[in-house]
Amino acid sequence: MAILLTGGMGFIGSHTAVELIKEGYEVIIADNLSNSSKKVLERIETITGVKPLFYEIDVAVKEDVMKVFEENEVQGVVHFAGYKSVPESTRIPLAYYRNNLDTALSVLEVMKEKNCKTFVFSSSATVYGDKNKAPFNEEMPTSTSTNAYGNTKLMIEQIVRDFAASWEELSAILLRYFNPIGAHPSGLIGEAPDGIPNNLMPYITQTAVGVREYLGVFGTDYDTPDGTGVRDFIHVVDLARGHVAAINYALKTQGVEAINLGTGKGNSVLEVVSTFEKANDLKIPVKLLPRRPGDIATSFALADKAKKLLGWKAELTLFDMCKDSWNWQKNNPKGYED
Ligand code: WQD
Repeated sequence: MAILLTGGMGFIGSHTAVELIKEGYEVIIADNLSNSSKKVLERIETITGVKPLFYEIDVAVKEDVMKVFEENEVQGVVHFAGYKSVPESTRIPLAYYRNNLDTALSVLEVMKEKNCKTFVFSSSATVYGDKNKAPFNEEMPTSTSTNAYGNTKLMIEQIVRDFAASWEELSAILLRYFNPIGAHPSGLIGEAPDGIPNNLMPYITQTAVGVREYLGVFGTDYDTPDGTGVRDFIHVVDLARGHVAAINYALKTQGVEAINLGTGKGNSVLEVVSTFEKANDLKIPVKLLPRRPGDIATSFALADKAKKLLGWKAELTLFDMCKDSWNWQKNNPKGYED
């Protein structure tokens, strides 16, 4: 009996593989390596002593997913496979709809055909849109986004709900991630964006390592304590443990639940910069810039539902996140490239 991680070679998938293995689960990874490196597999083995079975397949191709199910006893699926860049999704929206919807649909179709009833989906706090006021709770109305990436997350949540309504035995968890940063404390796996990073922490670490000249801070006139954006930053290891808790729960239940994975606490962009500087005894040159289109002022979770249903809560601090992000980046200045 195994848990299949689609997109399991990526940032969140690889950390989840490690935590599932530590919990005694057998892990299978299916990934086309479109935005990840084969080296992740050895790194997972170095950390855990176990090399997951790996299928280099495109999860959008249903026959290939079927092959994984034919050759193994798949007990549950954590579905990470998908494109994830917000700005790229505004340039090539059709590619985002095609890939993100096809990967989800092929997995769900195969699960139904093979009677696999446990599904955990990599959703995002972006589904709360710009009308709700933080802390975001799972009962709030969701809304479409200004970008195709966010809309694919919302659409897949709806697809899963419709599917669950037609199949009573399905157990599905929609995990709404806040802002995952940090890296495994070993420094062996971490976030390795392709090209110029869109997200805050990889931009900070690339500035610290000298690849970028300075960090641009997008917006200093938000209605927040210091004027910069506030986000719920969560350590990727905590997030990965949240997936283990979600799988444990989903294996025992039926129906659909949306669950936030966040710390319940917001920190501003400038607080992240100063914590990073303190944690690592470094200076990050910053330049204050206008707001980035599409950003909201404040986003953080109400994290009570995860505690109540899954018995999970985030344990690691912003200081830990900053230390571990830097440990990963300084040991791997070019990510997984040599
Ligand atoms: C955080 C804060 C920026 C970069 C997005 C997606 C979400 C999820 C994670 C991904 C904001 C500021 C950033 C920089 C900055 N998706 N910032 N300078 O926008 O909260 O969430 O990424 O896979 O769905 O929407 O995260 O890290 O981009 O930004 O000042 O160079 O940092 O303006 O206030 P965001 P982020």
